[in-house]
Amino acid sequence: MSDITSFRDAIEAFITTRGWTPTRFGRQMAGDPLFVFDLREGREPRSDTRTRILKAMQEQAEAPAAAPLRIGVAGLGNVGATLVRILQKDATELTRKIGRQVVVTAVCARSRSKDRGIDTTAVEWFDDPVALAKSDGIDLFVELIGGEDGPALAAVRAALEIGRPVVTANKALLARHGVALARIAEDNNAQLGFEAAVAGGIPVIKTLREGLGSARIARVYGIMNGTCNYILTRMGNEGIGFAECLADAQKLGYAEADPTFDVGGFDTAHKLSILTSLCFGCEIAADQVFVEGITSITQADIKVAADLGYKIKLLGIAQRSADGIEQRVHPTLVPKGSAIAGVDGVMNAVALETDQVHELLLAGPGAGGPPTASSVLSDIFDIARGTRVPPLGVPSHELTPYQQAPMKAHAGGYYIRLNAKDVPGALAAVASRMAGAGISLESVIQRPDLRVTDATQSNVSIRTIVLLTHSTLEQSVREALALIAADGFIVGEPQLIRIESL
Ligand SMILES: NC(=O)c1ccc[n+]([C@@H]2O[C@H](COP(=O)([O-])OP(=O)(O)OC[C@H]3O[C@@H](n4cnc5c(N)ncnc54)[C@H](OP(=O)(O)O)[C@@H]3O)[C@@H](O)[C@H]2O)c1
Repeated sequence: MSDITSFRDAIEAFITTRGWTPTRFGRQMAGDPLFVFDLREGREPRSDTRTRILKAMQEQAEAPAAAPLRIGVAGLGNVGATLVRILQKDATELTRKIGRQVVVTAVCARSRSKDRGIDTTAVEWFDDPVALAKSDGIDLFVELIGGEDGPALAAVRAALEIGRPVVTANKALLARHGVALARIAEDNNAQLGFEAAVAGGIPVIKTLREGLGSARIARVYGIMNGTCNYILTRMGNEGIGFAECLADAQKLGYAEADPTFDVGGFDTAHKLSILTSLCFGCEIAADQVFVEGITSITQADIKVAADLGYKIKLLGIAQRSADGIEQRVHPTLVPKGSAIAGVDGVMNAVALETDQVHELLLAGPGAGGPPTASSVLSDIFDIARGTRVPPLGVPSHELTPYQQAPMKAHAGGYYIRLNAKDVPGALAAVASRMAGAGISLESVIQRPDLRVTDATQSNVSIRTIVLLTHSTLEQSVREALALIAADGFIVGEPQLIRIESL
């Protein structure tokens, strides 16, 4: 057998027994990711190159195997139990991919007796998450308890303070304490992964921190709450009301018994504030997000929007403006043909607009045990491989203070639905107030089919009027609506939904 043939055989045997990919072999042993592919196609490396690579293979074979990465998981609910199940079931495959064994050695939850469908007999049980976080028996702490303060915060801090890497899926914790935790992590040379905290199974944090690390982001927007998207999708597809859709979402386990956090837009605001920091290099400012939920959206809005070529989605949007950075969460009219309009049901999507790649849309499951555990695993992979990136993309001392652009300075199109008394001069008064505020109307639509009855003034009939504006300032719209209300021609609160140009 020729030298070159035995060289090729040695490499193929090495790759097979080690479970390496040809690319990994090429990059690590030959400094060229295509080396093995070229070799297979007949390339004959010089003898000194062959000697160097054979020596590197010999050293690799003699090197002691990397010690297993010992993981402690606090919280064995939906996500935690799924993560432990995957780590136990797929141990061999995961070890092959990471090049190092990953073992759950300790866990923590409230109830020891609950059946979680996982085997915890061979792992150490802790009742106290902080004790687990500090335990000498783990190398990496995974927090899957939830909650912005309490045991989750105490345990994550405890681990980071002793330089132990942490992975968490906890958006509330990150939104409230993300900058402080990133600082503790950096001061103690520990990694902090939170891929699962935004949009569940969609790898948006990694994309922003690494893939688009050098890009300048102009706008980020997305559907980040599956409960709201499920409700709006069903309202649109089936013509049923908000309350009925919410009740179904609760029955199916998509919505909590108290749905305020989801349907009020606050969950989306938490996630958006984390993305804003990663996109614009500023501190996380979860309490400076303009938030409107979806509870006031009616079938009339869904129907009129559809007739005008739009769908209504709850979007979280952050963008630079002349006054700072806008962070807003609100129901939004999006053109039916846009990519985001096609994201239905419990699915999530995040769109990133950058100077270099224009728009990137990442879509996928935003919640649920397996998708969320998959993102937790992605962070574990990075830590096992020794990847090091500042938690918020740039070192925390480089983050700029968040400069909030006032909502009244927001410019965009508006959908306005009014219930006006059917009396002479009502429509003219509305139009004149709009013109007086300098608002240019794209269309004015009267919908007799959506006529409502006014319980307080039974002898006055009401007509539904819908106005679509060209791009205008939020402040102008609000001022015009206040004057319209004072004129006394309308009944009830006007409905105002922002239109996003996509
Ligand atoms: N579920 C999702 O689809 C999803 C998606 C993205 C992000 N996340 C985030 O992932 C995290 C976990 O969510 P989850 O849905 O898995 O929650 P979950 O099902 O409610 O599970 C929470 C777990 O934490 C344990 N726990 C609560 N308080 C504790 C304490 N004081 N000490 C020790 N253990 C405690 C509970 O123990 P017992 O079981 O004994 O009660 C339970 O096992 C949250 O931060 C959530 O926001 C979840």
